[in-house]
Amino acid sequence: MDTEVNPVRAPASIFALHGKSVAIAGATGNVGEGVVRTLLRAGAKVFALTRSEDRFERLARLLEGERTENLTGIAGDTSTLSGMSSLAAKIAAEHGPIDHAVVALGQWWQGKRVWEVPEEDFQRYFLDTMVLHFAAARALAPLVEEGGSYTVLAGLSAVTPLPGASLVGMQGAAHLMLARELQADAGERLRVNSLVLGFVRSRGRTSGKPSWLTADDVGHLVLRLAASRVAGRQIRADVKEVAERSLKELGL
Ligand SMILES: NC(=O)c1ccc[n+]([C@@H]2O[C@H](COP(=O)([O-])OP(=O)(O)OC[C@H]3O[C@@H](n4cnc5c(N)ncnc54)[C@H](OP(=O)(O)O)[C@@H]3O)[C@@H](O)[C@H]2O)c1
Repeated sequence: MDTEVNPVRAPASIFALHGKSVAIAGATGNVGEGVVRTLLRAGAKVFALTRSEDRFERLARLLEGERTENLTGIAGDTSTLSGMSSLAAKIAAEHGPIDHAVVALGQWWQGKRVWEVPEEDFQRYFLDTMVLHFAAARALAPLVEEGGSYTVLAGLSAVTPLPGASLVGMQGAAHLMLARELQADAGERLRVNSLVLGFVRSRGRTSGKPSWLTADDVGHLVLRLAASRVAGRQIRADVKEVAERSLKELGL
Protein backbone atom coordinates (compact mmCIF):
# COMPACT_ATOMS: atom_id res chain seq x y z
CA MET A 1 0.00 0.00 0.00
CA ASP A 2 1.34 3.43 -1.01
CA THR A 3 0.83 5.59 2.07
CA GLU A 4 3.20 8.49 1.36
CA VAL A 5 1.85 11.97 0.62
CA ASN A 6 1.69 11.97 -3.12
CA PRO A 7 1.08 15.21 -4.98
CA VAL A 8 0.56 13.39 -8.29
CA ARG A 9 -2.80 12.25 -6.92
CA ALA A 10 -5.26 15.12 -6.82
CA PRO A 11 -8.25 14.13 -4.66
CA ALA A 12 -10.51 16.65 -6.39
CA SER A 13 -10.28 14.83 -9.71
CA ILE A 14 -10.79 11.30 -8.46
CA PHE A 15 -14.49 11.22 -9.41
CA ALA A 16 -14.14 13.17 -12.64
CA LEU A 17 -14.46 10.01 -14.73
CA HIS A 18 -17.28 8.48 -12.69
CA GLY A 19 -19.62 6.70 -15.10
CA LYS A 20 -17.38 7.46 -18.09
CA SER A 21 -16.17 4.76 -20.44
CA VAL A 22 -12.49 4.22 -21.18
CA ALA A 23 -10.87 1.79 -23.64
CA ILE A 24 -7.31 0.74 -22.77
CA ALA A 25 -4.91 -1.00 -25.12
CA GLY A 26 -2.15 -2.56 -23.01
CA ALA A 27 -4.37 -2.81 -19.92
CA THR A 28 -2.85 -6.15 -18.90
CA GLY A 29 0.68 -4.73 -18.78
CA ASN A 30 2.77 -3.58 -15.84
CA VAL A 31 1.69 0.03 -16.15
CA GLY A 32 -1.73 -0.74 -17.65
CA GLU A 33 -2.74 -2.58 -14.49
CA GLY A 34 -2.26 0.56 -12.39
CA VAL A 35 -4.16 2.68 -14.90
CA VAL A 36 -7.07 0.24 -14.86
CA ARG A 37 -7.09 0.09 -11.04
CA THR A 38 -7.17 3.88 -10.76
CA LEU A 39 -9.93 4.22 -13.34
CA LEU A 40 -12.06 1.52 -11.68
CA ARG A 41 -11.63 3.24 -8.30
CA ALA A 42 -12.73 6.48 -9.97
CA GLY A 43 -15.96 4.76 -11.08
CA ALA A 44 -15.14 4.48 -14.79
CA LYS A 45 -16.28 1.63 -17.02
CA VAL A 46 -13.13 0.10 -18.52
CA PHE A 47 -12.72 -1.92 -21.72
CA ALA A 48 -9.40 -3.76 -21.77
CA LEU A 49 -8.21 -4.65 -25.26
CA THR A 50 -5.85 -7.60 -25.25
CA ARG A 51 -4.47 -10.27 -27.52
CA SER A 52 -5.41 -12.99 -25.03
CA GLU A 53 -8.34 -13.96 -22.86
CA ASP A 54 -5.86 -15.55 -20.40
CA ARG A 55 -4.02 -12.28 -19.96
CA PHE A 56 -7.32 -10.55 -19.27
CA GLU A 57 -8.25 -13.19 -16.68
CA ARG A 58 -4.89 -12.65 -14.98
CA LEU A 59 -5.53 -8.88 -14.89
CA ALA A 60 -8.98 -9.47 -13.39
CA ARG A 61 -7.40 -11.67 -10.69
CA LEU A 62 -4.79 -8.99 -9.92
CA LEU A 63 -7.64 -6.51 -9.49
CA GLU A 64 -9.74 -8.69 -7.20
CA GLY A 65 -11.51 -6.53 -4.65
CA GLU A 66 -11.80 -3.60 -7.09
CA ARG A 67 -14.98 -2.79 -9.03
CA THR A 68 -14.29 -5.46 -11.63
CA GLU A 69 -17.97 -5.55 -12.56
CA ASN A 70 -17.04 -2.38 -14.51
CA LEU A 71 -14.15 -4.11 -16.30
CA THR A 72 -14.73 -5.85 -19.63
CA GLY A 73 -12.10 -7.79 -21.54
CA ILE A 74 -12.08 -7.38 -25.31
CA ALA A 75 -9.77 -10.14 -26.52
CA GLY A 76 -8.61 -10.90 -30.04
CA ASP A 77 -6.04 -10.01 -32.64
CA THR A 78 -4.32 -6.74 -31.70
CA SER A 79 -1.41 -7.29 -34.08
CA THR A 80 -3.04 -6.05 -37.29
CA LEU A 81 -4.98 -2.97 -38.31
CA SER A 82 -8.04 -5.05 -39.17
CA GLY A 83 -7.76 -7.10 -35.96
CA MET A 84 -7.70 -4.00 -33.76
CA SER A 85 -10.62 -2.52 -35.73
CA SER A 86 -12.65 -5.67 -35.01
CA LEU A 87 -12.00 -5.22 -31.28
CA ALA A 88 -13.08 -1.58 -31.47
CA ALA A 89 -16.21 -2.71 -33.34
CA LYS A 90 -16.99 -5.11 -30.46
CA ILE A 91 -16.84 -2.20 -28.01
CA ALA A 92 -19.05 -0.12 -30.30
CA ALA A 93 -21.57 -2.97 -30.54
CA GLU A 94 -21.63 -3.65 -26.77
CA HIS A 95 -21.46 -0.11 -25.55
CA GLY A 96 -21.47 2.50 -28.33
CA PRO A 97 -18.94 5.34 -28.43
CA ILE A 98 -16.51 5.74 -25.54
CA ASP A 99 -15.40 8.82 -23.62
CA HIS A 100 -11.65 8.23 -23.46
CA ALA A 101 -8.90 5.96 -24.79
CA VAL A 102 -5.53 5.10 -23.28
CA VAL A 103 -2.62 3.35 -24.97
CA ALA A 104 -0.19 1.55 -22.62
CA LEU A 105 1.28 -0.79 -25.21
CA GLY A 106 4.93 -1.68 -25.37
CA GLN A 107 7.69 -4.02 -24.44
CA TRP A 108 11.19 -3.32 -23.25
CA TRP A 109 14.24 -4.35 -25.26
CA GLN A 110 17.91 -3.57 -24.64
CA GLY A 111 21.37 -5.07 -24.92
CA LYS A 112 22.52 -4.76 -28.52
CA ARG A 113 24.26 -1.97 -30.34
CA VAL A 114 22.76 -0.83 -33.66
CA TRP A 115 25.17 -2.95 -35.72
CA GLU A 116 24.40 -6.05 -33.63
CA VAL A 117 20.60 -5.96 -33.92
CA PRO A 118 19.26 -9.15 -35.50
CA GLU A 119 16.60 -8.90 -38.19
CA GLU A 120 14.05 -10.69 -35.97
CA ASP A 121 14.52 -8.19 -33.10
CA PHE A 122 14.10 -5.30 -35.55
CA GLN A 123 10.87 -6.86 -36.78
CA ARG A 124 9.49 -7.70 -33.34
CA TYR A 125 10.50 -4.75 -31.17
CA PHE A 126 10.31 -1.95 -33.73
CA LEU A 127 8.04 -2.82 -36.65
CA ASP A 128 5.53 -5.11 -34.90
CA THR A 129 5.21 -2.81 -31.89
CA MET A 130 4.66 0.17 -34.18
CA VAL A 131 1.84 -1.73 -35.86
CA LEU A 132 0.17 -2.15 -32.45
CA HIS A 133 0.30 1.59 -31.84
CA PHE A 134 -0.91 2.56 -35.28
CA ALA A 135 -3.66 -0.04 -35.20
CA ALA A 136 -4.83 1.27 -31.80
CA ALA A 137 -4.90 4.89 -33.01
CA ARG A 138 -6.69 3.95 -36.23
CA ALA A 139 -9.30 1.83 -34.44
CA LEU A 140 -9.90 3.73 -31.20
CA ALA A 141 -9.72 7.41 -32.19
CA PRO A 142 -12.96 7.27 -34.22
CA LEU A 143 -14.67 5.50 -31.31
CA VAL A 144 -14.02 8.35 -28.86
CA GLU A 145 -16.85 10.85 -28.39
CA GLU A 146 -16.25 14.44 -29.45
CA GLY A 147 -14.23 16.28 -26.78
CA GLY A 148 -12.92 13.02 -25.34
CA SER A 149 -9.28 12.20 -24.77
CA TYR A 150 -6.67 9.83 -26.17
CA THR A 151 -3.64 9.41 -23.93
CA VAL A 152 -0.47 7.63 -24.99
CA LEU A 153 2.20 6.35 -22.60
CA ALA A 154 5.85 6.47 -23.60
CA GLY A 155 9.18 6.21 -21.80
CA LEU A 156 12.13 8.58 -21.51
CA SER A 157 13.94 6.31 -23.99
CA ALA A 158 11.67 7.87 -26.64
CA VAL A 159 13.33 11.25 -26.14
CA THR A 160 16.79 10.39 -24.76
CA PRO A 161 19.13 7.89 -26.43
CA LEU A 162 20.22 4.97 -24.25
CA PRO A 163 23.12 2.71 -25.23
CA GLY A 164 21.88 -0.60 -26.59
CA ALA A 165 18.21 0.43 -26.70
CA SER A 166 17.83 1.74 -30.26
CA LEU A 167 14.73 -0.27 -31.09
CA VAL A 168 12.64 0.89 -28.12
CA GLY A 169 13.97 4.43 -28.53
CA MET A 170 12.98 4.63 -32.20
CA GLN A 171 9.68 2.93 -31.52
CA GLY A 172 8.88 5.32 -28.67
CA ALA A 173 9.78 8.35 -30.78
CA ALA A 174 7.55 7.05 -33.57
CA HIS A 175 4.56 6.59 -31.32
CA LEU A 176 5.06 10.04 -29.80
CA MET A 177 4.97 11.45 -33.34
CA LEU A 178 1.92 9.33 -34.10
CA ALA A 179 0.16 11.04 -31.17
CA ARG A 180 0.97 14.43 -32.69
CA GLU A 181 -0.23 13.31 -36.12
CA LEU A 182 -3.41 11.99 -34.56
CA GLN A 183 -4.03 15.36 -32.89
CA ALA A 184 -3.40 17.13 -36.21
CA ASP A 185 -5.89 14.85 -37.97
CA ALA A 186 -8.51 14.98 -35.21
CA GLY A 187 -8.41 18.78 -34.81
CA GLU A 188 -10.72 19.87 -32.01
CA ARG A 189 -12.75 16.66 -32.02
CA LEU A 190 -10.32 14.81 -29.77
CA ARG A 191 -7.67 15.72 -27.16
CA VAL A 192 -4.52 13.71 -27.77
CA ASN A 193 -1.74 13.85 -25.17
CA SER A 194 1.28 11.75 -24.37
CA LEU A 195 2.97 11.10 -21.05
CA VAL A 196 6.72 10.61 -21.16
CA LEU A 197 7.47 8.47 -18.11
CA GLY A 198 10.64 7.65 -16.21
CA PHE A 199 11.02 4.36 -14.32
CA VAL A 200 7.67 3.11 -13.06
CA ARG A 201 7.24 0.94 -9.98
CA SER A 202 4.79 -1.80 -10.78
CA ARG A 203 4.26 -5.53 -10.34
CA GLY A 204 7.12 -5.92 -12.86
CA ARG A 205 9.47 -3.68 -10.82
CA THR A 206 8.43 -3.82 -7.19
CA SER A 207 11.34 -1.85 -5.75
CA GLY A 208 12.72 1.54 -6.69
CA LYS A 209 13.15 5.07 -5.47
CA PRO A 210 10.26 6.79 -3.64
CA SER A 211 10.49 9.59 -6.22
CA TRP A 212 9.57 7.21 -9.05
CA LEU A 213 5.99 7.07 -10.20
CA THR A 214 4.01 3.94 -9.46
CA ALA A 215 1.70 2.38 -12.02
CA ASP A 216 -1.23 3.74 -9.99
CA ASP A 217 0.32 7.23 -10.09
CA VAL A 218 0.39 6.94 -13.87
CA GLY A 219 -3.32 6.08 -13.64
CA HIS A 220 -3.90 9.33 -11.74
CA LEU A 221 -1.99 11.30 -14.37
CA VAL A 222 -4.13 9.71 -17.07
CA LEU A 223 -7.26 10.50 -15.09
CA ARG A 224 -6.31 14.13 -14.57
CA LEU A 225 -5.52 14.59 -18.25
CA ALA A 226 -8.71 12.88 -19.36
CA ALA A 227 -10.75 15.09 -17.04
CA SER A 228 -9.04 18.27 -18.27
CA ARG A 229 -9.23 20.34 -21.45
CA VAL A 230 -5.55 19.80 -22.25
CA ALA A 231 -4.88 18.84 -25.88
CA GLY A 232 -1.89 18.11 -28.08
CA ARG A 233 0.72 18.06 -25.31
CA GLN A 234 3.73 15.87 -24.68
CA ILE A 235 4.00 15.83 -20.90
CA ARG A 236 7.20 14.98 -19.05
CA ALA A 237 6.74 12.75 -16.03
CA ASP A 238 10.28 11.54 -15.32
CA VAL A 239 9.56 11.31 -11.57
CA LYS A 240 6.69 12.46 -9.32
CA GLU A 241 8.05 15.97 -8.84
CA VAL A 242 8.52 16.53 -12.57
CA ALA A 243 5.04 15.14 -13.29
CA GLU A 244 3.46 17.48 -10.77
CA ARG A 245 5.39 20.46 -12.17
CA SER A 246 4.29 19.55 -15.70
CA LEU A 247 0.65 19.38 -14.63
CA LYS A 248 0.93 22.73 -12.81
CA GLU A 249 2.31 24.31 -15.98
CA LEU A 250 -0.80 23.05 -17.75
CA GLY A 251 -3.00 24.60 -15.08
CA LEU A 252 -4.00 21.26 -13.55
N1 LIG B 1 7.32 -0.22 -17.11
C1 LIG B 1 8.00 0.91 -16.98
O1 LIG B 1 8.80 1.12 -16.06
C2 LIG B 1 7.81 2.02 -17.98
C3 LIG B 1 8.58 3.17 -17.82
C4 LIG B 1 8.42 4.22 -18.71
C5 LIG B 1 7.48 4.10 -19.72
N2 LIG B 1 6.76 2.98 -19.86
C6 LIG B 1 5.83 2.94 -20.99
O2 LIG B 1 4.56 2.43 -20.61
C7 LIG B 1 4.04 1.65 -21.67
C8 LIG B 1 3.66 0.27 -21.12
O3 LIG B 1 4.81 -0.31 -20.55
P1 LIG B 1 4.73 -1.67 -19.70
O4 LIG B 1 6.00 -1.78 -18.97
O5 LIG B 1 3.44 -1.69 -18.95
O6 LIG B 1 4.68 -2.74 -20.86
P2 LIG B 1 4.42 -4.32 -20.79
O7 LIG B 1 3.89 -4.71 -19.49
O8 LIG B 1 5.66 -5.00 -21.27
O9 LIG B 1 3.35 -4.52 -21.97
C9 LIG B 1 2.20 -3.73 -22.07
C10 LIG B 1 1.20 -4.38 -22.99
O10 LIG B 1 1.60 -4.28 -24.36
C11 LIG B 1 1.07 -5.38 -25.07
N3 LIG B 1 2.16 -6.03 -25.82
C12 LIG B 1 3.46 -6.08 -25.48
N4 LIG B 1 4.14 -6.77 -26.40
C13 LIG B 1 3.25 -7.18 -27.32
C14 LIG B 1 3.34 -7.93 -28.51
N5 LIG B 1 4.49 -8.41 -28.96
N6 LIG B 1 2.22 -8.17 -29.20
C15 LIG B 1 1.06 -7.69 -28.77
N7 LIG B 1 0.90 -6.96 -27.64
C16 LIG B 1 1.99 -6.71 -26.94
C17 LIG B 1 0.53 -6.39 -24.07
O11 LIG B 1 -0.89 -6.40 -24.12
P3 LIG B 1 -1.69 -7.81 -24.18
O12 LIG B 1 -0.74 -8.90 -23.79
O13 LIG B 1 -2.80 -7.64 -23.22
O14 LIG B 1 -2.16 -7.94 -25.56
C18 LIG B 1 1.05 -5.88 -22.75
O15 LIG B 1 0.19 -6.07 -21.68
C19 LIG B 1 5.10 1.59 -22.76
O16 LIG B 1 4.82 2.57 -23.76
C20 LIG B 1 6.36 1.98 -22.05
O17 LIG B 1 7.28 2.65 -22.88
C21 LIG B 1 6.89 1.94 -19.01
